[in-house]
Amino acid sequence: MLRVCVKNEKEAELLGIQLAEKLAPGSVIALYGDLGVGKTTFTKAVAKGLGITDLITSPTFTIIQEYKSGRLPLYHFDVYRLEDEEELYELGYEEYFYGDGVCVIEWADRIENFLPGDTIHIHIDYGAEENERIFQIDEDISD
Ligand SMILES: Nc1ncnc2c1ncn2[C@@H]1O[C@H](COP(=O)(O)OP(=O)(O)O)[C@@H](O)[C@H]1O
Ligand SMILES: [Mg+2]
Repeated sequence: MLRVCVKNEKEAELLGIQLAEKLAPGSVIALYGDLGVGKTTFTKAVAKGLGITDLITSPTFTIIQEYKSGRLPLYHFDVYRLEDEEELYELGYEEYFYGDGVCVIEWADRIENFLPGDTIHIHIDYGAEENERIFQIDEDISD
């Protein structure tokens, strides 16, 4: 377990870029945290770290957005508006989770039972100061 306190968005971005370097085909990152805590911001940093040049937009209404311009494909999920488990099957989630790219999932607690065993779980919490955030990562990426 790695616990990182970032002071601002820039530091959060550096953490996302650092994580991106460790990712491989089939990596799944599950993000947990309240609205506005920085899940999409962190996803954008991971995308940047993967060398993705496209504009990353929140996939709240589409559930999944795909980006193919980086070192690995990025599948950005936001499952906040997922109706039920059936909808997850209809999206073909297994193709993504066990596929050739990297999945980053916002609101992952909603599909906890479907996450692969080797998922990297990242909890983001608000810190004491305005732009401070606490990242708890269940895998050590500090080396
Ligand atoms: N340290 C930080 N890390 C991430 N976002 C931060 C940080 N400090 C301030 N912010 C701001 O918090 C907001 C996070 O929004 P967003 O990433 O969309 O959250 P979420 O996807 O979790 O709802 C952005 O407006 C961002 O500029
Ligand atoms: Mg978001």
